[in-house]
Amino acid sequence: MKKLLDTMMLAVGLLFPATLAAEALPLIQNVNAYESMSLNGEWNYIVDVQEEGYYDYRMKPMRNGFFINAKPQRPEDLIEYDFDKSPTMQIPGDWNTQDERLFFYEGTVWFKKSFQAVPMSDYRTLLYFGAVNYDCRVWVNGKEAGHHIGGFTPFNFDISDLLREGENVVIVKVDNKRHAEDVPTLIFDWWNYGGITRDVKLVKVSPVYLEDYNLQLTSLEGRQISFSVKLNKPEANHQVTLNIPELKIKKTLTTAADGTASVSMKAKPQLWCPENPKRYQVEISLDNSTIADSIGFRKIETRDKQILLNGKPIFLKGISIHEEKPHGGGRANSVEDAHTLLSWAKDLGCNFVRLAHYPHNEYMVREAERMGILVWSEIPCYWTIAWTNPATLDNARQQLTDMIRRDHNRANVIIWSIANETPHSAERDAFLGKLAKHARSLDDTRLISMAMEVTGASNYKNILNDNMNEYVDVVSFNQYIGWYRDVNDAPKMTWEIPYKKPVIISEFGGGARYGYHGAKNQRWTEEFQENLYRENTAMLDKIDGLSGTTPWILKDFRSPRRVLPGVQDYYNRKGVLSDKGERKLAFYVLKQWYEGK
Ligand code: GCU
Repeated sequence: MKKLLDTMMLAVGLLFPATLAAEALPLIQNVNAYESMSLNGEWNYIVDVQEEGYYDYRMKPMRNGFFINAKPQRPEDLIEYDFDKSPTMQIPGDWNTQDERLFFYEGTVWFKKSFQAVPMSDYRTLLYFGAVNYDCRVWVNGKEAGHHIGGFTPFNFDISDLLREGENVVIVKVDNKRHAEDVPTLIFDWWNYGGITRDVKLVKVSPVYLEDYNLQLTSLEGRQISFSVKLNKPEANHQVTLNIPELKIKKTLTTAADGTASVSMKAKPQLWCPENPKRYQVEISLDNSTIADSIGFRKIETRDKQILLNGKPIFLKGISIHEEKPHGGGRANSVEDAHTLLSWAKDLGCNFVRLAHYPHNEYMVREAERMGILVWSEIPCYWTIAWTNPATLDNARQQLTDMIRRDHNRANVIIWSIANETPHSAERDAFLGKLAKHARSLDDTRLISMAMEVTGASNYKNILNDNMNEYVDVVSFNQYIGWYRDVNDAPKMTWEIPYKKPVIISEFGGGARYGYHGAKNQRWTEEFQENLYRENTAMLDKIDGLSGTTPWILKDFRSPRRVLPGVQDYYNRKGVLSDKGERKLAFYVLKQWYEGK
């Protein structure tokens, strides 16, 4: 019977091939400013190891998969799944920390949420996801709304035509299996948390809305600020008004045929900086709708081996952070999570954080802006990516586009990083070169960098020689002297960094199990890590052009690559804080070093 049914369905499938999944619309700017209905909360889920709900037994996509949310209509009907009788979990949230059966799980999980809606003729409805790891397919009322890959950037679909009066059902298929051609690729030193990991909402927009806008200080001396907008449609003669009451600025622009408009104007804003993270309330009106934003004005640039913020040299006292909840593991995804992690960084004396190795949630970036913390934001071109695969390049470029699109109005974001610890080759240079150019074409007001690696080390002489130096504004590299090599030799080290550019040490550090004490040459003791930090910070002070560091890492974090029993237990233990936020001895060494900066 199943065979016959499937053959029949297959026939139907062949007659009417599955509709092609719509790609995501360009990301809407500042989605939180729009009227919306949150879909956060309890969602039913079905774990589907063999993707029974999507493929038939011939591995062909089905037309009657789980996405139609079928219910038996007659007693003899055979429906072998039922979302409403299936368990629920909290969205946003990863599945690994909510269902212990899924702690290590990599595969497909289906999610279902019902919601009430009233289709609106004079408005559009966007379905917005803050992030879904990794491969995400979405259906609304059984119709495919779209497909997205990439676990750390937001996306939105226009579902207006899929909505109906009353009860609506959204079904999401999430697959976090790893593949060589993905970004990140097969191996990475963090937990592959799966699921709908950030906010989900229905966003109400006018048929013509502000797809993107840009408000920046363009000249420090001339105190010029520039404002530009792009509508979601190439339409002329739409009125856009910029209102910054505190600066007594009110400007109206008219869009051109391509739906864009721009203006530059004189203004004397207080400049955003860590000591004074001043943001201005901004209102932007288009036709009869108005959105609000908080925007800071600042200038970031380099001069020789210095990084200048608002024209003055700055030392970036940083720390690297993974997007994990401050307590208890799992993906961080709230302003409270962000505030706690960033407060710990502030306790260290930081004015800068490296959000590794992927774009973190918007709460993190905006809370850092509010708290006066500068940000390095990165896409997960991590270790050995499939450099020659065009689909991999498109994927990386899309993640870069969406990272910049979401955060380009944030004053505290100063560095876009395109990669971490990538092996040297012409293919890699070509791939990353394209990304660097793309980033600069989208935003030429910020610094471009990437985390390189020391290329040669002998007789205590460390050399950096990386072709990518041409593409970056800041030369950054990871080094693990005292941990992966040359234990206790930091004092003897010399450096050869032949580039007239500022230097950031984007990683250094070593592991320690909180509470494990002993001799300073005993691995995993807090004393070993403390000594390593002492020796490393003294060594780094000798590097010419050192403009910042982001030690690895603020807090112990989960990693499937860390399996030493009683010490790691699936945690990377290089935090200066334990996985519960307890301070290790090294915390105080770094804090003291930063006090001297
Ligand atoms: C690398 C890498 C990190 C990793 C760290 C470590 O440098 O960039 O992602 O966690 O080293 O080995 O702990």
